[in-house]
Amino acid sequence: MELHDSPDGHPGAPGGVTSPCAMVMFGAGGDLTKRKLMPAIYNLAQTHMLPLQFAIVGVSIEPYSEDEFRDRMTSDIREYSVDGVDMSVWNQFVNRLYYVSGDFQDPALYKKLGETLARVEKEQGTSGNILFYLATSPVFFPIVVKQLGAAGLARQEGRKWKRVVIEKPFGHDLASAVELNRAVGEVLEEKQVYRIDHYLGKETVQNILAFRFANGIFEPIWNRRYVDHVQVTVAEELGVELRGGYYETAGALRDMVPNHILQLITLCAMEPPISFEADSVHDEQIKILRAIQPMSPERVLDQAVRGQYAEGLIGGAHVPAYRSEPHVAPDSQTPTFVAAALHIDNWRWADVPFYLRTGKRMAERLTQIVIRFRRPPFVLFRKTLVEKLPPNELVINIQPKEGISLRFEAKIPGPIVRLGAVNMDFQYSDYFGTTPSTGYETLLYDCMMGDPTLFQRADMVEAGWTVVQPILDVWKALPPRDFPNYAAGTWGPSQADELLRREGREWRNPEPAQGRRSDPSAVRSAPSAAPVRKP
Ligand SMILES: NC(=O)c1ccc[n+]([C@@H]2O[C@H](COP(=O)([O-])OP(=O)(O)OC[C@H]3O[C@@H](n4cnc5c(N)ncnc54)[C@H](OP(=O)(O)O)[C@@H]3O)[C@@H](O)[C@H]2O)c1
Repeated sequence: MELHDSPDGHPGAPGGVTSPCAMVMFGAGGDLTKRKLMPAIYNLAQTHMLPLQFAIVGVSIEPYSEDEFRDRMTSDIREYSVDGVDMSVWNQFVNRLYYVSGDFQDPALYKKLGETLARVEKEQGTSGNILFYLATSPVFFPIVVKQLGAAGLARQEGRKWKRVVIEKPFGHDLASAVELNRAVGEVLEEKQVYRIDHYLGKETVQNILAFRFANGIFEPIWNRRYVDHVQVTVAEELGVELRGGYYETAGALRDMVPNHILQLITLCAMEPPISFEADSVHDEQIKILRAIQPMSPERVLDQAVRGQYAEGLIGGAHVPAYRSEPHVAPDSQTPTFVAAALHIDNWRWADVPFYLRTGKRMAERLTQIVIRFRRPPFVLFRKTLVEKLPPNELVINIQPKEGISLRFEAKIPGPIVRLGAVNMDFQYSDYFGTTPSTGYETLLYDCMMGDPTLFQRADMVEAGWTVVQPILDVWKALPPRDFPNYAAGTWGPSQADELLRREGREWRNPEPAQGRRSDPSAVRSAPSAAPVRKP
C-alpha cells in the first residue's frame, strides 16, 4: 500500500528501501521458508528493496551449523526460486544468514537467540529493529510469543521496532482465535502484530481497492440497485498432497473461509475508507464482517454445502479419493469443498447474495470474483427471447492470470439483429509485464515498513470466525452422510449448483477445455442468443 511513516511511530524509508532490520525466521528448516519466504526475500534483494543493513536469523530444531544452514539455503533457493538465481546477488546475501538451533519451548533457545541478535546488530548494522516471523506449526504461536516476551526480545526501546508476523491458521474456531489474541496481547501491542494472509499479497487483491476507489465509473453502480449477486470462487486442482495430517484437522471451511474468502468479500463490499491508512481500511472491512447475517442452524442446513472428493480425472490423469490420500482416515468426514450464501445487512447490499465456494481437486485452478449485474429492463426487445441473454458481468481474476474483464452484449455484424457476449479484458501481464513473485514480497516489505493494511487486525480475525462458527457447529452436530460426494476434476457436489439454481442463478464456470484454455476467464464472443427481432 502507500509508503508512509509506520503507525507505531517508527518510520521506514520512503522511496523504496526498507529500514535496517534483522528478520528472525522461526521454522527455518520447514517448507514455507524454503518455498516462499527465502525466495521472496531474494526477490526483494534483487529488486534493491532491502538495505545492506539486513540479516536473517533462522531458528529451528535441525542441528545445523551456520555454514550448513547457508549451504542448505543456497541449494533450496536454486530449487525454489521460480525465475532462477543471480548468484552475484545471492552470494552477497548469503553472508547475512545466521542460524540458531533449538526447541521452541526451551527458554535456553531464546537466550542463544538474544546473543546472536546482538552479534548480528554489531556485524550487519541492523539497528536493533527485528521482524520475528512465526513460520511454525500453529501450536507454537502462543509458545514462541510468550518466550519472546519472557526473554525481553519483543520489547521496543526508543526507535527500535519489534514486530511479529503470525502465519495462518489463526485459531481453529472462534474460541481458540479469541484465546490466541489474548495470549499474544499479553506480550505484544496490537501494532506489533502482523497476522498474515498471503492472498492479500496478490496484486489483483490489492487492485480491488484501486479499481473501486480510483475510478469514478464503477462506484455508482456498485450496489443493490445494479448488482444482482456476487460470486467468489477459490478452486484448486491440487488435492492435499502430503499435508493430509494438517488438513484432517482443518478442512475447506476453516482453511479458506474465515481468512482468504472473507477478506475478498470485505474488499469488494466495504464502503470507501476515509484514507488508505491501515486502521481506516480495517474499520470499513470489519463493518462488513459484522453486517454479515448470522446463520441460524436452519439457514446453515439450507444455505451451506459441504463436499469431499472421490477419485476422478484431473487433466486426463486418474487421481485418488481424499480418503485414500496419505495421512487421511479411510472414513474421514473432513470437507474438501464448501459453498455458502452470505447476506450483508446494510443499505448498499440488502438482498444481494454473496455466494462463495472453495474446494480441492476441482476442475481448474481458479480464484475469481464475479460481480453479476441486473438485466436491463428490455423495453426495446420485449417481444423477443432476449431474456436468455447473459447479464453483464465484471470478473476479477486473481489466479492463475491476474486481470479484470467486463462482459457486455454487442451486435453481431449482419442484417438481422443478433447479440453476442464479448469481453473487455485487462491482463496485468499485458500492461505491466511480470515480475518474479511468490506473493509474499509485498507483505514482507510492508512488515518491514510498518504498514499493516494488508494484515488482519485482532477484531477482524474474531469477526471472521464469528461468521463461520454456526456452520462449524451444525456440521459437527450432523456428520455428513454422503461423503465422498463429488468426483475429483469437477466443480463440486450437485448441491452447490442447486444452491444457486433454486434462486434462478448459476455459477460462472470456465468453459470446459478443448485442450486446456490458458485463460479461464475468457468467454470471448460467447455465441449468442437466438436472433433478436428488431423492435
Ligand atoms: N508450507 C506452506 O506452503 C504454507 C503456506 C501457507 C501457510 N503456511 C503456514 O506456515 C506455517 C509453517 O508451515 P510449514 O509448512 O513450513 O511447516 P513445517 O514444514 O512443519 O516447518 C516447521 C519447522 O519447524 C520445525 N520444528 C517443529 N517443532 C519444533 C520445535 N519444537 N522446535 C523447533 N523447531 C521445530 C520443524 O522441524 P521438523 O520438520 O523436524 O518437525 C520444521 O523445520 C504453518 O502455520 C502453516 O500453516 C504454510
